[in-house]
Amino acid sequence: MNSEVKKVEKNPYQYNGDYTLIDNETNSKNLLEKNLYIESYGCAMNFSDSEIVASVLSKKGYRTTNTITNADLILLNTCSIREKAEETIRKRLKTFNSIKKINKQVKIGILGCMAERLKDKLIEEEKIVDLVVGPDAYKDLPNLIDDVEKGEKAINVLLSKDETYADVTPERLNSNGVNAFISITRGCDNMCTFCVVPFTRGRERSRDPQSIIEELNDLRTKGYKEITLLGQNVDSYLWYGGGLKKDFHKASEIKKSTAINFAKLLELCALSQPKIRIRFSTSNPQDMSIDVIKIMAKYNNICNHIHLPVQSGSNKILKAMNRQHTREEYIDLIENIKNIIPECSISHDMIVGFPEETEEDHKKTLQLMDTVKYSFGYMFKYSERPGTLAHRKLKDNVEESTKKRRLNEIVELQQKHSLIRTKEFLNKTVEVLIEKTSKKSKLHWSGRNSENTVVVFPKEHYKVGDFVNIKITDCTSATLLGSAIGYSKNN
Ligand code: 5AD
Ligand code: SF4
Repeated sequence: MNSEVKKVEKNPYQYNGDYTLIDNETNSKNLLEKNLYIESYGCAMNFSDSEIVASVLSKKGYRTTNTITNADLILLNTCSIREKAEETIRKRLKTFNSIKKINKQVKIGILGCMAERLKDKLIEEEKIVDLVVGPDAYKDLPNLIDDVEKGEKAINVLLSKDETYADVTPERLNSNGVNAFISITRGCDNMCTFCVVPFTRGRERSRDPQSIIEELNDLRTKGYKEITLLGQNVDSYLWYGGGLKKDFHKASEIKKSTAINFAKLLELCALSQPKIRIRFSTSNPQDMSIDVIKIMAKYNNICNHIHLPVQSGSNKILKAMNRQHTREEYIDLIENIKNIIPECSISHDMIVGFPEETEEDHKKTLQLMDTVKYSFGYMFKYSERPGTLAHRKLKDNVEESTKKRRLNEIVELQQKHSLIRTKEFLNKTVEVLIEKTSKKSKLHWSGRNSENTVVVFPKEHYKVGDFVNIKITDCTSATLLGSAIGYSKNN
């Protein structure tokens, strides 16, 4: 839990001369401890990594704080996926100048994808930065911080063949005590030509299933009700005793025959904790197997939602992106999903304005969206990323105004489809896990149904973490509205 820690002048408990020793629950600072303020940007994987960082640093006496002015160490866990993500971080760093003026001792570190991409350039370009640490080097943080405390700049951006942080129990940050992430793979071998991730997060490796199940069981003991298995490409999960996915072919026959793939892992999770809802993200079309879809259908506690990025509806563009599937194969997969789980919702990521994308290609994207009618999606203008194959080989030649217009067109179409999808729930009863108070009304709860649609309803006597059956009476394109008709069987 990310508790706000305040320095207190008067300690109501004990005082032994040179430091205050305060019970955790007083929300105060033990002066032997230091305050860590950590901000995360980008994907869920990054937010999950920050929980690993908080755990590693707790062993070094750092407690997380929500109050930046109280921090001894400020960490930004950064994203490089689009240029804009990096610009946001650069701007944020500027605002730290004023904090450093007041608190000269505070140290500032950059973690994550931007650290990995820019390495020591970050220290050269951003004078305020003391520490640069890539996604595979978080266990080295205590040593690096020792150097920083001596007044040195410290950097570790080594990528690893086997680091999965399986032995680190994440410290849950900003948690509602209900939803949690479990990281199952790291890195990515796909080499989509637009994407910086293979360079910032390294080669793909899977985490020991035993440690995944242990984390799941631990979360259940702590009262969590829903977990999301995370990875850049979860369907590619393959445990054969450790090592890179690309080296699987070198493994012994016994290791190969006892290997655990994603379908098996999903089943293990579903069986281990039948009362916990299970989600997973992200799926890549070329790696999603029929077995996975069948396992989803077989177990009630695996949610009916697949995030299945396609990126473009044009085969020409898919090829230029080095996607390992065609438009037709993707549509076949969607049909298979719908045949096996008719109620399964599907969401997407889409990029407009990739090099050489013509109006014809763009129309194919719009047509594909019409065919699938996604429940929701994340849509982006192509942003050229240094070092990627697209940057090296292709010219970013779609006009910015055209990119904008195409983005508006797909966003508008998605809204129509989202409304079609939410309307399908009208007058139906859905099971909702309550997550938080609705942003728009203190009197309403907000949660999600199995298909990942947000559901809002009057609070009555229910509480966060309850599974409640909700009769849906109204909807917008993004939200279902309804009222509770009682607890679901899952409680
Ligand atoms: N430009 C725009 N969008 C990108 N994405 C990844 N790389 C880029 C890029 N260079 C999008 C993809 C991916 C999502 C996480 O971000 O759609 O699935
Ligand atoms: Fe951003 Fe991709 Fe890194 Fe996630 S993996 S933080 S989306 S660049």
